[in-house]
Amino acid sequence: MPWAFETRFLLPHAAACVASDAMGKIDDIAKARRTVKLLPDPPEPLTGAGLSREVVDALLEPAGFAPFHRAAPAARGGEGAVEPWRVHALDKTGCAALIPRLNEMPKSPGKVVNMLAAADALLLVTWLPEEGRDWTASDLNMEHIAATGAMIQTLLLAATERGIGNYWSSGGVLADEAFDLLGIGREERLLGAIFLWPDAPEGVEAKPGKLRGQRRAPMHWTRWIEVPVS
Ligand SMILES: Cc1cc2nc3c(=O)[nH]c(=O)nc-3n(C[C@H](O)[C@H](O)[C@H](O)COP(=O)(O)O)c2cc1C
Repeated sequence: MPWAFETRFLLPHAAACVASDAMGKIDDIAKARRTVKLLPDPPEPLTGAGLSREVVDALLEPAGFAPFHRAAPAARGGEGAVEPWRVHALDKTGCAALIPRLNEMPKSPGKVVNMLAAADALLLVTWLPEEGRDWTASDLNMEHIAATGAMIQTLLLAATERGIGNYWSSGGVLADEAFDLLGIGREERLLGAIFLWPDAPEGVEAKPGKLRGQRRAPMHWTRWIEVPVS
């Protein structure tokens, strides 16, 4: 919130209160975020209005505040926007219309079509590698991916805060075979196909993330370093 940043400079004490209120909220939202996969079978579009573009825009707005260290490579479309990520959005109608198109493709779309049938919206979040599609492992690319991951997580948190179920998928056929169909440039790589869901209707399978239950407390992956005092 821009006003919160301004207050911070004018009223340090009041700003600390704003920050601590926000902190409790963020802790709760981060813990509440969870993978849900809606899988209607057969893959026939669910009834419902879907999410309006205004609601999706409202999720993208805070997501766009994710940190990024390096500008998108100019040679790969970076002149369009400095951010290293790009978003290709489909509303509910677009998700439903994509099902028969994917079914016509040589590679089976698998469960993607079931999820498209349930989705209220789909956001395909890509990043722009320095070299284009055949990218190499480099510090620069690592930072593009990291920034795009931060953007996606912020998007998921914004959805969770609004009670919108969500799922970060690698995308299957959406990550490659469907690029031309969707008009996504070959110089981009998909980092996340973000499905946004309605409330799960009765009788529709809602699957959790496989690794959800394997989370461990920070003490299992954190090491405090005792630096000898010289
Ligand atoms: C980069 C990335 C890609 C993912 N791709 C898939 C996927 O293709 N299929 C899937 O079932 N889950 C996928 N997930 C979701 C994870 O399975 C899920 O986050 C994990 O099981 C932990 O569950 P939680 O999100 O509920 O905490 C992906 C998550 C990330 C961060």
